Amino acid sequence: MSLQLDHRRRAMLAEMGVHLPEAAVTLTEPASGPSSVDARPAVPDILHPSASRVAAVGGAAGSGRPAGASAPPTTPVPRPIAMQPSGHALGPVADLSWSALQQAVAGCEACTLCQQRRHTVFGTGAPELSPGEAPPVDWMIVGEAPGEHEDLQGEPFVGQAGRLLDNMLKAVGLQRHAEQAPGGRVYITNVLKCRPPGNRNPQPDEVARCEPYLRRQVALLRPRIIVAMGRFAVQSLLRDSVADIESQPLGRLRGQIYAYEGVPVVVTYHPAYLLRNLVDKRKAWADLCLALSTASRPQG
Ligand code: URA
Repeated sequence: MSLQLDHRRRAMLAEMGVHLPEAAVTLTEPASGPSSVDARPAVPDILHPSASRVAAVGGAAGSGRPAGASAPPTTPVPRPIAMQPSGHALGPVADLSWSALQQAVAGCEACTLCQQRRHTVFGTGAPELSPGEAPPVDWMIVGEAPGEHEDLQGEPFVGQAGRLLDNMLKAVGLQRHAEQAPGGRVYITNVLKCRPPGNRNPQPDEVARCEPYLRRQVALLRPRIIVAMGRFAVQSLLRDSVADIESQPLGRLRGQIYAYEGVPVVVTYHPAYLLRNLVDKRKAWADLCLALSTASRPQG
């Protein structure tokens, strides 16, 4: 298939550090499959991850935290279901409907982050087709935790990193609030639903207490692909499938397909990290291409 990339998409790719020569606009035939994502073009061969797979990078690479921020303790913590501080279980999160899950997150007091939050940040993306039911989505983006802007607005990725994320998504034909887009429908959320004070790293106990919400979101959304952005999303999603995940540099985990709750997972850098490490934007583009081709595959 041959297709011209329009100026808009070229500009978005340029924003990601990917400058395509004219010859690069001939696209390969996409894998066929039933989803709406099949409608969009396959990625140019020269940008395929296999052409740009990279050596591992340093341990903190890919985290959304400022360089030099302290690494989290690696002591494993028990993985309780969400609990009130009083010790009362919120109930079986695994059984909640989409609207009940939203309410549970909005009222969550399972850890101390609830004390300083202004809003919980459940997630956003393609609109619900039936009120209170999970929207149909093809992609799920998982970041780390709300920052200041997200805490104020109650929506993930609305700051500077969010602007880069939006451009990354547009480059693969996705738009955060669109009911339909050439690349399919997307849902964006975080490992933590509340802001850690001062944007410090999430703590293992906070991640463990919030994890049932993310797991239930995945179970209800059933996306075709999950993109794990940054160290904390990667560790949270791959804890069960990659041994000793805390000690694995993110760069070494890229370029492969993992699974979380039976959904394929692709690992990439956090947009906040990419804002500081422009040279890795090209690798992030390769990761998105891998996600794109995985989402295009027929699902069995
Ligand atoms: N960083 C994240 O990981 N998530 C947000 O929502 C904002 C910044």
